[in-house]
Amino acid sequence: MNSTVRVGWMSALAVATLVSIGVVGCKAPKDGGATGETSTKATQNLDIKTIKVGEFSSMTGETATFGQESDAGIQYAVAELNAAGGIDVAGKKYPVAVELQDDQSKPEEAKTVAVKFASDSEIVAVLGEVASSRSKTAAPEFQRAGIPMISPSSTNPDVTKVGDYIFRVCFIDPFQGYIMAKFAKDELNLTNVAVLRDPSQDYSVGLADAFIKEFTGMGGKIATDVSYKASDSDFRSQLGQVKNANADGVFIPGYYGEVGTIARQAREIGIKAPLMGGDGWDSSELVKGAGGAGGALEGSYFSTHYSASETSKRVQDFVAAYKKAKGKEPAALVAQGYDAMMILADAIKRAGSFERAKVRQALAETKDYDAVTGRITLDENRNANKSGVVVQVKGDKFVYTKTIEPKQ
Ligand code: PHE
Repeated sequence: MNSTVRVGWMSALAVATLVSIGVVGCKAPKDGGATGETSTKATQNLDIKTIKVGEFSSMTGETATFGQESDAGIQYAVAELNAAGGIDVAGKKYPVAVELQDDQSKPEEAKTVAVKFASDSEIVAVLGEVASSRSKTAAPEFQRAGIPMISPSSTNPDVTKVGDYIFRVCFIDPFQGYIMAKFAKDELNLTNVAVLRDPSQDYSVGLADAFIKEFTGMGGKIATDVSYKASDSDFRSQLGQVKNANADGVFIPGYYGEVGTIARQAREIGIKAPLMGGDGWDSSELVKGAGGAGGALEGSYFSTHYSASETSKRVQDFVAAYKKAKGKEPAALVAQGYDAMMILADAIKRAGSFERAKVRQALAETKDYDAVTGRITLDENRNANKSGVVVQVKGDKFVYTKTIEPKQ
């Protein structure tokens, strides 16, 4: 684990007095979909000068761009909050400091980090993870300790089912499956789509199943449904099956690392059908892995949370300000990380308290929050009900194609 704290902590620690708000062995309140597991609330220090937020992200490893982009958004939000003097809590402003822990893209490491954060009496809430499998291994630790956790972008439905302290500010995969099924059917006129999934990732399995359910529900057929391992480098046997099945489209709900290789090998063996994916494709490294701009992924489509080329004023103002500060366009995960931190700040302010249980309650009451990635209301399962977008790979850009609204 590598830890980085951005704002000096020692001053706050030096004056710290431990105040226990612990409620030992109580039942977590039942709150739509929560498992209500027995929780032993950890001790919290409320005598603080700075609001300490834990962040666990994949800064290195297989999906390093997920952590790096998400962190960039979180840090950008913190800079904005602190430039305004911090978060107003009951009439006084407190600066925010984020302690970042790198989980190296490993679920076991995410759990180790969570155990560490859970015993930190200064932490008010935690942001993370991007990948669903990592959010899922960490979440039970925060639920047990009674520390609110907000995932910026884990879309597997099970993540927030862990309990009433676990939130996300993104949509979930049953909706994302619907987005791409609808797009495949209505916009690309596909009828017989092959699916390639990675059984080791909760995200991949959940999104593959959701797509199949929606697409077949719309009258589409699944040509074949084959499994791969992300760590493999040769996907030709699976792709051979896709080719033999005469699929007119290929849905690959994987992560950017393997998707580039799969796309290259698909084109090499003569698969010409359009390739499609979900938000796991959303990475500055995606196109590189597919042979660069104009390579194997040219013209492909995937669903994601936002596009920097959306025309709304909220998005364009954010893009312009971020570009001015950082010299580049904010990726979808930057926007998600930013929104997650800002929604937490909003909840702390509304709670008027650092108390974790009160912050949790305020988070649960998040309603019509005007986030960069859409208007966010957290539902009774602590998931964000919001629209998604489909983007097309053109050169090394992801070009905005369509917004899909939540099913009513
Ligand atoms: N939704 C993906 C998951 O749950 C993570 C992800 C989100 C990746 C957004 C890229 C962009 O695993």
